[in-house]
Amino acid sequence: MAKVTVTDHPLIQHKLTIMRDKNTGSKDFRELLTEITMLMGYEVTRDIQLTDIEIETPVVKTTAKVLEGKKLGIVPILRAGLGMVDGLVNLVPAAKVGHLGLYRDPETLKPVEYYCKLPKDIEEREMILVDPMLATGGSAVAAIDVLKANGATNIKLVNLVAAPEGIAEVQKYHNDVDIYVASIDEKLNDHGYIVPGLGDAGDRLFGTK
Ligand code: URA
Repeated sequence: MAKVTVTDHPLIQHKLTIMRDKNTGSKDFRELLTEITMLMGYEVTRDIQLTDIEIETPVVKTTAKVLEGKKLGIVPILRAGLGMVDGLVNLVPAAKVGHLGLYRDPETLKPVEYYCKLPKDIEEREMILVDPMLATGGSAVAAIDVLKANGATNIKLVNLVAAPEGIAEVQKYHNDVDIYVASIDEKLNDHGYIVPGLGDAGDRLFGTK
């Protein structure tokens, strides 16, 4: 079974509470999402491989660790996923960023791809798929399908808030994908919103309604 990591550091919990508050405006919401994603990135990147290099400090020659250079790719699910890109790119500036747009077909209710631009060497990269809200899991499953169809074999999913239903759905179809979340909330309501959640993440990020 794929691993689910809840990155519930006190700073993350504090910032997430402010994001949940309906009185928090878009500017603060955006900045907090970037800050939380950066803090989550500390855990998400914990298993990046290191290698030894020789350096010379002002005192002595020594061997020290640097990142081995295995490449990362970050893919936000449009549009709310865009709010999680900067936090990760700040940590790993060499990461390539793909974009994946999905909408829900009003009749079948299934996610349909409308935009897809991915790094071309996706099979050599560790791919980090980001979307603030993991609700039903339908978009996440479809997005992982797209990444795998394009050659990705090493994928992590990073969400801010997840419903238990969404986690179960991803685990059902993509048992090889580890999931990182800041909170597992109570449930989905009848309109597909996470409870207690934070409302529509895209609208709150971009000030739309
Ligand atoms: N998408 C959101 O933006 N919020 C939810 O609560 C569920 C899905």
